[in-house]
Amino acid sequence: MDNDFSVETTKEIAIPKDPLGQVIGQEQAVRIAKIAARQRRHLLLVGPPGIGKSMIAQSIAYHLQPPTQEISVLHNPGNPERPLVEVRDVKDIAKEKNLEKSIQGKFVDGQQIPAFVAEKLGFRCRKCGRAGKATEDSCSHCGAEKYRQEYSPFGDLLFDRSPAPQHPQRVHTTRMNEDGREEVIVYERMGERVRILDQRALERMDALKQRKPRKVIIPLERNNFIIATGASETELLGDVRHDPYGGHHQIGVHPYARVVAGAIHEAHEGVLFVDELSTMNYLQRFLFTAMQERKYAIVGRNPQSSGASVKVPDVPCEFMMIAASNINDLQYILPPLRSRIVGSGYEVLLDTYMPDTKENRASLLQFIAQEIRKDGKIPHASIEAAERIIEEARLKALHNDDATNSLTLRFRDLSGIVRLAGDIAVVEDAEKIEKPFVETAIERMKSIEEQLKDKYGSIWKAGASEFAKPDKRDLTEVR
Ligand SMILES: Nc1ncnc2c1ncn2[C@@H]1O[C@H](COP(=O)(O)OP(=O)(O)O)[C@@H](O)[C@H]1O
Ligand SMILES: [Mg+2]
Repeated sequence: MDNDFSVETTKEIAIPKDPLGQVIGQEQAVRIAKIAARQRRHLLLVGPPGIGKSMIAQSIAYHLQPPTQEISVLHNPGNPERPLVEVRDVKDIAKEKNLEKSIQGKFVDGQQIPAFVAEKLGFRCRKCGRAGKATEDSCSHCGAEKYRQEYSPFGDLLFDRSPAPQHPQRVHTTRMNEDGREEVIVYERMGERVRILDQRALERMDALKQRKPRKVIIPLERNNFIIATGASETELLGDVRHDPYGGHHQIGVHPYARVVAGAIHEAHEGVLFVDELSTMNYLQRFLFTAMQERKYAIVGRNPQSSGASVKVPDVPCEFMMIAASNINDLQYILPPLRSRIVGSGYEVLLDTYMPDTKENRASLLQFIAQEIRKDGKIPHASIEAAERIIEEARLKALHNDDATNSLTLRFRDLSGIVRLAGDIAVVEDAEKIEKPFVETAIERMKSIEEQLKDKYGSIWKAGASEFAKPDKRDLTEVR
């Protein structure tokens, strides 16, 4: 092989599993991203489009510990329009799961319960004492009716006339527990099995019933990467939905059940990603407050709605903000917000090119392999084709950044070339992306400006030639 790389196609290139390992160049940004993830710091990534700002933000979320808290809104019987917040951690949730399990009771067969209970529930014939199915109305051995005694003498008058007798479902009784005390025990028929609820299970069941009704607004299992780019005020901060019955206790929907979390709450314990931070305009103020307070009330934001009178104070929102901006828009970021990020986090200016070294060429090869895998619809590239793309990266560094002996990190164009060359390979029924396909792709990818420059020598000349001829005549005609 007469190339720098000891491979024949990009198919052989190994791609790191860790998404941060897939970020090419940007060593400083990656290093800081790792610290930010570990220490949960805010991060502002600055640089032109297509150099990996979103990619880095997403990778940080991948490196975070999974969330440990669940947030619920509870009915407040004293003041329904001020629902309460409850934060539960993994332990609390596990405890409750066990509680729910314990009140399911113990399931046994009809033969494993005391005879008098078995008789009442229909597992044993009162006459011959033999076992049978509870769902059968008469004993399969002696034919005696099992449930006759349960009839009321006025049954025909008081109840429906259906021939099927009412099977008793539950038997309440008492038994001695281990410490010699008497306790209540309930046997409940469930099909052909019996559920046993002891005193403890019954008490727990009562406790559970008395718990306030709730709505989980932030579940434990959730995505920890929340994109807030372009969010409206309600999407960002949450809302309380309208109820046409004004939350009436019988026909309406309780206020607590109408509470909706905002992106800042959904990002609790995770990443809130804001691309083009300056485009958030006045919402930046709210972001700033939320970052400072680490909690933010959810209120109904539409004054016409019945939700407007509802407020849930102090809903936690401990997010890590990762924001992106290009250099020109830095000035439109609210100064206190920016100093907040710097004060408890990092600002990083991303690189737009890297030195043309053997290692960095290998990184670019990895980039090409990644883009091809990510696309999924194009074949791998031959090493000659890949080298042609790398050559283009060198030219682009020179052209865009006046950087000699460098390779561009402005990947948007480069990935466009990979895709286009891949599509040409598909159309040509080729097994691999070959060098000529890359040449064609580069030619076609040229921006309008570049195409005009090629044709006329400069954009200005091109503009002049466009207006030169028709203009004069049009103007005289108008006059
Ligand atoms: N530094 C990089 N390393 C590897 N791939 C990159 C890099 N930067 C951009 N890309 C590729 O370009 C795509 C768009 O990049 P993105 O992260 O959205 O850029 P930005 O947010 O800076 O505009 C990515 O999904 C990835 O395929
Ligand atoms: Mg982006």
